[in-house]
Amino acid sequence: MDLLEVKDLKTYFYTYEGTVKALEGVSFSVGNRKTMGLVGETGCGKSVTALSITRLIPDPPGKIIAGSVLFKKKDLLKVSDEEIRAIRGKDISMIFQEPKSALNPVYTIGDQIAENVLLHDEDLKNLSKKEKKREAWAKSIEALRVVGIAEPERIARSYPHELSGGMCQRSMIALAMVCNPSLLIADEPTTALDVTIQAQILELMKDLIKKFDSSVLLITHNLGVVAETCDDVAVMYAGKIIEKGNVREVFKEPLHPYTKGLMEAIPSVEKRKEALKSIPGSVPNLINPPSGCRFHPRCPYVKEICKEKEPELFDGRVACWLYGGAR
Ligand SMILES: Nc1ncnc2c1ncn2[C@@H]1O[C@H](COP(=O)(O)OP(=O)(O)OP(=O)(O)O)[C@@H](O)[C@H]1O
Ligand SMILES: [Mg+2]
Repeated sequence: MDLLEVKDLKTYFYTYEGTVKALEGVSFSVGNRKTMGLVGETGCGKSVTALSITRLIPDPPGKIIAGSVLFKKKDLLKVSDEEIRAIRGKDISMIFQEPKSALNPVYTIGDQIAENVLLHDEDLKNLSKKEKKREAWAKSIEALRVVGIAEPERIARSYPHELSGGMCQRSMIALAMVCNPSLLIADEPTTALDVTIQAQILELMKDLIKKFDSSVLLITHNLGVVAETCDDVAVMYAGKIIEKGNVREVFKEPLHPYTKGLMEAIPSVEKRKEALKSIPGSVPNLINPPSGCRFHPRCPYVKEICKEKEPELFDGRVACWLYGGAR
C-alpha cells in the first residue's frame, strides 16, 4: 500500500456567487520514498488539494464533501482534531510559496523550529523542562546546519524579516524536516525566489528527501521542475486529475491534449527568446464548469462525446475520449 492514497476527494467553497467546485473527485497516491509532482495552471485546485489532505481548508466557506485521504492506512478525514494536529508538523509537514508569510514574524527562526520539536519530539518526553528547551534548541541548530546554513547559531537568533527569501525558505525547510516527516508537502516552494536560488533550493530538497527517506508531494506549475525532481506526476485541470503516471513515461509520450499543450509551453534553450507559448483559452469557471470533459472548449481534438460525457481515467493514465470508450 502507498504511503498516501487520496481517493475521490471533493472540496467545495460556498460563496455568494455560487458553489465553487474546486476539487471534483481527485484521486492519486504517493508511494514510499517517492516524489510526486502535482501540476496544472493557476486555479486548477493544487493548493486546495494540499490543504484538504491536511484538513486546513477554511470552513466556512470551504468544505470537504466526499472522499478519503488514507495516510499510513488511516483516513485523515476521519481522525479527531487532536490527532490531525499531532500528525501535522510531524508525520506530514508543509512548506509554502511565501516563506516570509509562513514564518511567524515575532519569533526568531530558532524559536520556531524549537517549538515544533517541543510539540512533537518523543525523545524529549522524559527530560526536565530546562533540558527539553536546551535539547530542542540544539536540534534546531542542527536542522539549520543540515539545510546548508553556514552560521546556524546566528540565523537561529534572527527574525524572518532580517533574512533573504532564500534563507527564509531554507529555514522553512529546516522547520519542516526537523521532526523527520514521512511526507513533505511542498506547495510552489521556489516560485517566489530568484532563479539561481530556486535551483539551490530544489537541489537541497532532493538531497534531504534522499537523506530522510521522505515521500514528497511537490506542487508546481513548472514542468521542468517536475522532470528534474519527481518520480511520478499527476496533471490537474479544473479540479480533476486528467493524466498521471511515471515521469519518464508521461514526458516521453504525453497523452492528454492538455498535457501536450503544457509541455509545448516549456521554454527550451532554443525557444528562450520567443514569447512563452501558452494554451489558448483560460481556466474554466468552477462554479459553472463546462459539460462533459472540462477541457473540451479549449481542446483542438474535441468530439461530440467530449461535450456530453465525462471521460474516466482510462488505464489509470489519461482521462480523454481519444484513448478509451467510443472512439
Ligand atoms: N477560500 C476560498 N474561497 C472561495 N474559493 C476558493 C477559496 N480557496 C480556493 N478557492 C477556489 O478554488 C479553486 C482552486 O484554487 P487553488 O488555490 O487550489 O488553485 P491552485 O491550483 O493552487 O492555483 P495557483 O497555481 O494559482 O496556486 C480556485 O477556483 C479558487 O478560486
Ligand atoms: Mg496554489
